Amino acid sequence: MFSMNQKLHDKAIEVLNKNWKDGFTVPCEGLYPFQWDWDSGFIALGWMHIDLERSFMEIKSLLKGQWSNGFIPHIIFHNPADTYFPGPEVQASHLSPFASKIPTSGITQPPVLGWVMGEIYTFAKADPRTLPFISEVYDAAYRAHQYLYTHRDPHNEGLVYICHNWEAGTDNTPVWDAIWETMDSPEYELERKDNVHIAASHRPSNREYQHYIHLIELFKSWHYDDATIAAKSPFLVQDPLFNAMLIASNEALITLGNLLNKTAEVSQLKKWNTLSKLRYEEKLYDSDLKGYVYYDLRNNRPLRHLSSSSFTALFAGIPSAERASEMVSNFQGGRFSGIDNNLLLCASFDPESEQFDPKRYWRGPIWINLNWLIYRGLQRYHQDTLADRVKKDTLHLMEKYGFYEYFDPRKEEDALLTDGYGGANFSWSAALTLDILNR
Ligand code: GLC
Repeated sequence: MFSMNQKLHDKAIEVLNKNWKDGFTVPCEGLYPFQWDWDSGFIALGWMHIDLERSFMEIKSLLKGQWSNGFIPHIIFHNPADTYFPGPEVQASHLSPFASKIPTSGITQPPVLGWVMGEIYTFAKADPRTLPFISEVYDAAYRAHQYLYTHRDPHNEGLVYICHNWEAGTDNTPVWDAIWETMDSPEYELERKDNVHIAASHRPSNREYQHYIHLIELFKSWHYDDATIAAKSPFLVQDPLFNAMLIASNEALITLGNLLNKTAEVSQLKKWNTLSKLRYEEKLYDSDLKGYVYYDLRNNRPLRHLSSSSFTALFAGIPSAERASEMVSNFQGGRFSGIDNNLLLCASFDPESEQFDPKRYWRGPIWINLNWLIYRGLQRYHQDTLADRVKKDTLHLMEKYGFYEYFDPRKEEDALLTDGYGGANFSWSAALTLDILNR
C-alpha cells in the first residue's frame, strides 16, 4: 500500500475503534448514538478486514433487535443517549405485539444482511470461524426476507414497499416531495437534535420532519400492524435501492443456503428472486431517464427522477449488459458527470434537476455507501474505467476532508472547501474506505 493510503487506512481504523461500543458501532458519536440497520452492514465490511470477530458481533448485535415476525428494525436502542430525536419513547416499538425485548424503531432499512453475509463469507471463508458464524445467523436473515415478501408485497409482485422515508436510507431525497404534497401532517412542535449538531442548511426542513414524525404517529396508532399500514399509509413506495438490496441479499442467501443444505429455503428464495428481478426490470426502469425510478404504490404513479439509487441495480446484477451501458452514459458526459466533467461522482440526486441541492442531506451531496455500491456495480459489469473513477473520487474526498457523512459534488466548490458535510468521523465512510483500500 502507498504511504498516503496507509495513512488513510490507519485513520479509518481509528474512527471505527472510537465508534465501537462494546458489541456494535455507532454511525456517528452524538448525531447517531445507537445501532442502525444498514450502517451495521457496511460497518461489518470494514471490521472484517481488521477484526473478523467484531464484524460478527456487529451483526449479532443487530439481530438482538429482530422482532418475532422476522422484521429487522432500522434503529436498535441498545444504550441510553439523549443526543438523538426521535428516541425510543417516541418510536414506542412495544406497541407492536411482535417487538423485541430491546427497544427499537418500528420501521426498517434496506435489507443488507444477506448480501453482507455473502461478502464476509467470500472474504473470510478460509477462517474456521466463518462458516459457523454464517450458519448461526442464516435463519434470522432468511426470516427477514420472509417477513418482507409476506407483509410488504400486497399484490405479490415481487417488489416490496417501504412505508417511511427513513426506510429508504436516502432520507431526504427530493423524490419524496411529491408524496409530502399529498399529506396534511400536523405542525408538531419538535425537539430536533440534529440541528444542534449540524448546520440547519445541510439538514431536512422542519416541515419535512413533521411529515416523518406524522408517519410514525400513524403507525403507532395502528400498533405497527402491517396490514393496516399497507391499507392506509400515505407513504407506500417501491424503492429501486431497497429492492436491489433485497435481490442481492436473496442471491447471497441462495449461495450460502446451498453450502448449508438449506433446501427448502433455497427453493423459496429462488422463487422470490426470479419474480423480483423480472418485475424490477419491467416496472422500475425508465428508458427516457436511463435509470431505475421509484414507484408510488399509494398513488399509482412512477416518481420520475434519477438519483444515486437509480444505479444500484448494477451491483445486484439485475440489468442486461446493454441496459447497463445505457445507464452508465449518465456518468460519461451525462447528468451526473456534468457537461464539462465538473462534478465528482456520484451526486445523490440528479444534478440537472431544479430540486438538486449540492449541500443538503440526500438532495445532491455524495454519500460514500452509494458510491461504494455503484463502484461495485460498475465492476460487476466490467465498466472498469468508470469504476476506477468512482474509486478515485471517493478516495480523494476521504483524503482531503476525512470521513465525513456527505460531500459537495461540485469540483469548483471542492477547490474552495475545507470540510465535508454532516457528521465527522462517520463510521460507514471509514469502513467502506477500508474495504476499497483492501480490495
Ligand atoms: C442518516 C442516513 C441514514 C443512516 C443514518 C445513520 O439518517 O440518512 O441512511 O442510516 O443516518 O447513519
